[in-house]
Amino acid sequence: MRHLVTAALPYVTGDIHLGHLVEHVQCDLWVRFRKMQGDEVVFLCADDVHGTGTMLTARKRGLPESTLIAELGAAHVKDFKDFGIAHDHYGSTDSPSAKAFVEAIWSRISAGGHVARRSVTQLYDPVAGSFLADRFVKGTCPKCGSADQYGDACEKCNATYSPSELKDARSVLSGAVPELRSADHCFIKLEDFRSFLDAWTQSSGALSGPIARWIKGAFLIDGEPLRDWDVSRPAPYFGFEIPDAPGNYFYVWVDAPVGYLGSLADWCAQDPGHRKRQDWWPMVGETPTEPLRIHHVIGKDITYFHTLFWPAMLHASGWRLPDRIRIHGWLTVDGDKMSKSRGTFINARTYLDVGLDPAYLRYYLASKLNGSADDLDLNLKEFTEKVNADLVGKVVNLASRCARMISRLDAVYPDDGGRFATAATEGSAIAAAYDADDSSQAIRRIMALADRANEYVEQVAPWSLKKDPARAAELAQACTVALNLFRQLTVYLAPVLPRLAEQAGELLSAPITRWSDAQKPILGTAITPFARMLDRVDPALVAKLVVTAAEPAAASQPAAPGTQAVAAPSTGQPAEPLAATITIDDFAKIDLRVAKVLSAEEVPKAKKILKLRVDLGSLGERTIFAGIRLGYPAPAALVGRLIVVCANLAPRQMSFGTSEGMVVAAGGGEPQQIFVLSPDSGAAPGQRIG
Ligand code: 2FM
Ligand code: ZN
Repeated sequence: MRHLVTAALPYVTGDIHLGHLVEHVQCDLWVRFRKMQGDEVVFLCADDVHGTGTMLTARKRGLPESTLIAELGAAHVKDFKDFGIAHDHYGSTDSPSAKAFVEAIWSRISAGGHVARRSVTQLYDPVAGSFLADRFVKGTCPKCGSADQYGDACEKCNATYSPSELKDARSVLSGAVPELRSADHCFIKLEDFRSFLDAWTQSSGALSGPIARWIKGAFLIDGEPLRDWDVSRPAPYFGFEIPDAPGNYFYVWVDAPVGYLGSLADWCAQDPGHRKRQDWWPMVGETPTEPLRIHHVIGKDITYFHTLFWPAMLHASGWRLPDRIRIHGWLTVDGDKMSKSRGTFINARTYLDVGLDPAYLRYYLASKLNGSADDLDLNLKEFTEKVNADLVGKVVNLASRCARMISRLDAVYPDDGGRFATAATEGSAIAAAYDADDSSQAIRRIMALADRANEYVEQVAPWSLKKDPARAAELAQACTVALNLFRQLTVYLAPVLPRLAEQAGELLSAPITRWSDAQKPILGTAITPFARMLDRVDPALVAKLVVTAAEPAAASQPAAPGTQAVAAPSTGQPAEPLAATITIDDFAKIDLRVAKVLSAEEVPKAKKILKLRVDLGSLGERTIFAGIRLGYPAPAALVGRLIVVCANLAPRQMSFGTSEGMVVAAGGGEPQQIFVLSPDSGAAPGQRIG
């Protein structure tokens, strides 16, 4: 079997951080696991280099884009390599091969009649010579008059508006007064692909059940056409120019996934005699020489790009569709989203620079990844304890206690109470867990085997046998068992800890390369002098990871529209001044109720708003426009949750409808740090809170 595996392409505008590593560790250990099973696997990634972000970052740093791409690209490759992430190829979305694929795909979409062109009016900076996205315009709020507000929403009064409504608008790029200008944009008519998308998302098996249901409920709604996707940007824009629309460029999300194909082609070009593109990603009508599966591993925030836009592009241009989209959650650190202001936004390089071994993080993340899209928490105390207890205490200790006592393994495997045989049988359950992306289950099973191996060593106590020369044969037998059980564990851990497997191979003069290496004991080989394998985690180094940010966090933000911030999350947040004292009568005026979320959907053009339909029990159902979207990129996760709403707030007319209440949420840190409050289970919709 062949597998093509991709990790999402990191933007070239920033450093690799621990969030990226969750995904790359998930891919890397799966790829290593499949290779140990004898499959042919190619693991691809690339930098995602186009878009406004790249233009601005390069401009800020006074560099041409090409220099930024070269510098950051090299740093990304090194960061991944130093964490043992073994991409077969790491490309860049501006490669000539990627460009050729983008153009070919576009020409087939266009020839199929799936492109519409129409005029879009936007603010334009006449000095910078650039159209301005909403965040590149600042000015005075048209509602409350607060100065220095962005083009899409006021952070003081929460009003949302279009950039052209701002007073005294200024371009962030040059300070110039922007003008309104119209330009033609190209749109892909997604609705043309509805029946294909319905079939592919709902019945191909490419998506998990919950994700398929979310896509259906949020996008493929009966009677609601899919909106056209705006895929072009007028000059100046950093990207590939659209061949049949000169002066316009492909929007970054058009060529980003095509970068997967570009990276594949560049990898094939390194060994054209043996690597054929069509064996790894065929077009319809091409037949690979071996059975093939194509996997995209992504974070939950980019689900709809990979489950709607990208499949539609592939389908329209005659490419084979991916077999599986494997979606993971986000990394939190000590229970909170990673935050620059709290020092928990940890770069890969920072981790290495403080002196922590990458094996620790690989092991810890593997012990948490379970194939679901739930967020995964890096709890720093647990990280230290788990690595020390499991890897050092239960695995490496087996070798360090026994390897120095004998110089050769026995020629015959002694009676070990069935331990080796049981662990060999367990190999298929561990393999199934790895295969299903549930490395957390694999690790639990491996550690249960490690417990049994340690129990054996405690029972036979080789250190006592060593004291009596008459018991040398028993000592050799005991160590032969212990070292074989150790080796078996390192075979099972090899996808996660390849270096440890190498060390075990060197120690026992028997390299570990295949999963089946755990099926038979090694006998009669020489034991090489024991070399240090893994140190205990030093908590002082872990403490250094979370640095207090040099600058104070941005002033706490007022609650977004439709929400009420009730408290600043956890420590390290700037203190939010306490509001004026109120009486119990004041408080009693606020009628807070338990509500159940019936539906949660994004509101077009309102980047911070979700439209919620909630059940308030005897008070009926309400629609609430809540400013919580940045905290809930997969809104379907809210459906079915009990939340708290202020039910007696006067209805508020907004540009997209009337909001009939307010969702209670904590906020005040980074824009994404929004936490909707929930009562304990058992509470009922409509119940009064107070
Ligand atoms: O969200 C991101 O970081 C994007 N750069 C991912 C692109 S993945 C793929 F489509 F290229
Ligand atoms: Zn305002």
